[in-house]
Parts: sequence; structure tokens; C-alpha cells
Amino acid sequence: MTERTLVLLKPDAVSRGLTGEIIGRVERKAGWVITALELRTLDRDTLATHYAEHVGRPFYEGLVEFMSSGPSVVLVVEGERVIEGMRALAGPTDPIAAPPGTIRGDFGTVVRENLIHASDSEKSAERELEIFFPGRYGRD
Ligand code: RTP
Ligand code: MG
Repeated sequence: MTERTLVLLKPDAVSRGLTGEIIGRVERKAGWVITALELRTLDRDTLATHYAEHVGRPFYEGLVEFMSSGPSVVLVVEGERVIEGMRALAGPTDPIAAPPGTIRGDFGTVVRENLIHASDSEKSAERELEIFFPGRYGRD
């Protein structure tokens, strides 16, 4: 089933010069298409909305500090089962536990700086697309 997902290449991926490598992996998945791509420094309000489920958790302040510390690359990717597929490409949240071959497993070490975000469900994708591109994907 063709889907659409919201992907962030986090500030560590940008500052370490890994965006080309990561975008290349996305491009090489058969039939997936990048339909939006933008360098954007995320502000606290946007992050509070995006990470609403984590507000108040012990790691939240550090997460916002990190995520607003420099530009991210904001992407929309479309294609066959892309929501599940992008999560699989990214790997589990903890980069040490993430298998080699995944983006987090290949390039990360600490949980906070885990390089990439990808929507975790159809509902999250819809919600996040509206946060980062208001009005653009509301109705097809
Ligand atoms: P994301 O939302 O960024 O795609 O990552 P995720 O679903 O794999 O993980 P989630 O539980 O939603 O956590 C969001 C992000 O917060 C940072 N984090 N730090 N204990 C910690 O220090 C901690 N736990 C989570 C990570 O950047 C994680 O991706
Ligand atoms: Mg998450």
C-alpha cells in the first residue's frame, strides 16, 4: 500500500555530514520517492508539538536542547509500506542495540543522538505531516 511518512535527519546527522549517506539509503529503496526535502532549524514550540508524548519525561529537556541545536533535514517520503519500512531502515531507538545495517546501528552510539526520526504509524504520519507542512497533505 502506498503511504506517506515524515522523516527528520536530526542535527547530529547534519553536523556529522551523514545526510547524503542516509538519503542515499532512502533513494535506493525501490519505488520510494522523496517528495519534500528541506533544511530547517526546529524551534521549541514545533518540537513540543512533535514530541508531545514525551513532554515531562526526564529526557525531554535534553531532547529539545539537542533537536534545536542546529538544522535538521525535514523529508517527506512516499511509497510502498514506507511507514514501517523507514522505521526498519532507521533501526531501534538505542543505537547500540540497533543491528548493523540500520542507520542507527551503523552510525550511532547514544540514545539521544540517534540520527533519524520516522513516523511510527499511519496516525502519527498524518499528525506529523500537518505539523511540518500545515495544510499541504490534509486531503488527498
Ligand atoms: P523518534 O520518535 O525520534 O523517531 O524515535 P523513537 O520513536 O525511536 O523513540 P522515542 O521513544 O519516540 O524517543 C524520541 C527520541 O527521544 C530521544 N530519547 N532519549 N533516555 C533517553 O535519553 C532518550 N530516550 C529517547 C531519542 O532521540 C529518541 O529518538
Ligand atoms: Mg517516537
